[in-house]
Amino acid sequence: MQNTSWYIIRLIMTTQSITLTRPDDWHLHLRDGEILNSVAPFTAKQFQRAIVMPNLKPAVTTVKQAVEYVDRVLAAVEGTDFEPLMTLYLTDNTSADEIRAAHKSCFIKAVKLYPAGATTNSDEGVTNIRKCDAALEEMQRAGLPLLVHGEVTDPGIDVFDREKVFIDRVLMPLTNRFPGLKIVFEHITTSDAADFVLDMGARVGATVTVHHLMYNRNAMFEGGMRPHHYCLPVLKRERHREALLHAVGSGNPKFFLGTDSAPHAKNLKESSCGCAGIFTAHAAIELYATVFEAIGALDKLEAFASFYGPDFYGLPRNTGTITLEKKEQRIPESYPMAGEQLVPLMAGQTIPWTLKA
Ligand code: DOR
Ligand code: ZN
Repeated sequence: MQNTSWYIIRLIMTTQSITLTRPDDWHLHLRDGEILNSVAPFTAKQFQRAIVMPNLKPAVTTVKQAVEYVDRVLAAVEGTDFEPLMTLYLTDNTSADEIRAAHKSCFIKAVKLYPAGATTNSDEGVTNIRKCDAALEEMQRAGLPLLVHGEVTDPGIDVFDREKVFIDRVLMPLTNRFPGLKIVFEHITTSDAADFVLDMGARVGATVTVHHLMYNRNAMFEGGMRPHHYCLPVLKRERHREALLHAVGSGNPKFFLGTDSAPHAKNLKESSCGCAGIFTAHAAIELYATVFEAIGALDKLEAFASFYGPDFYGLPRNTGTITLEKKEQRIPESYPMAGEQLVPLMAGQTIPWTLKA
């Protein structure tokens, strides 16, 4: 009898489904052309909006390019109510006029800083942040956020230290020089980054990817080289992952959802010089739910995924909802993508949550 009643209590206590305000993805790579058409529907199925990264080839450096790109994104998600939020790619030559035009456009919501050479398609990025003062001044004035890929490119700096050194050499001086500039420290990976964000005022926030919450750097070397766990910033040691879990689990509004889902064809990942990027858009919200449940913070998921991002950007929260069911789903080994294969995170494995259609 005692066993039976305990079983019933357990059954009631175990969450079987959760309904959330429709979430947004505050850091996403959609690419262009056929790849865009293959991957965009995954995001539109889960998220209402996404901040779309501008690191195309050529990069989206002007409002004119962003106008053309947003049309292609909208065509790729036709028939859905998904809203792409566009970004401009900051260069040494971005003018204050271009920033003004971006702000006026209303559909460009931020400007992305890629230090030149830091990551995928960053060759056109910034060689010295001092060259961007006029643009940054205008962004500060307009309230247009700067989204930061926070890694130094100095080859003398250990790859695992590049985020921390970026804080000391670039981000700290930048926040001092532009005290009113809104900044999102993208895809943070270290306790140093989490602490930095916490120490700053409300104008500095951070996105946290699900892969940096799920894995530490061992995941890149488990039984051999694991190219599908290679991204930038690279996965860090366990104590840093724990700091990220603590940051999101604490329910602090400075930390919000940004997948950094980045599609690369299988053959380009499994190569002698594999590309950086992890594709998570196929099951992003279910993966975050799995992480939040594992740390006993499912009650914090909705604000992280659906409230803190729009609050930071000064945009309205979504009004619709999605429901996740405690129902296992098996992740496919790959998806077709522009005549190639795309290997998603957790390919061939099972996860406990499924988005209700
Ligand atoms: O892993 C990454 N992939 N990090 C980035 O910063 C860029 C992204 C991509 O575009 O593939
Ligand atoms: Zn990214």
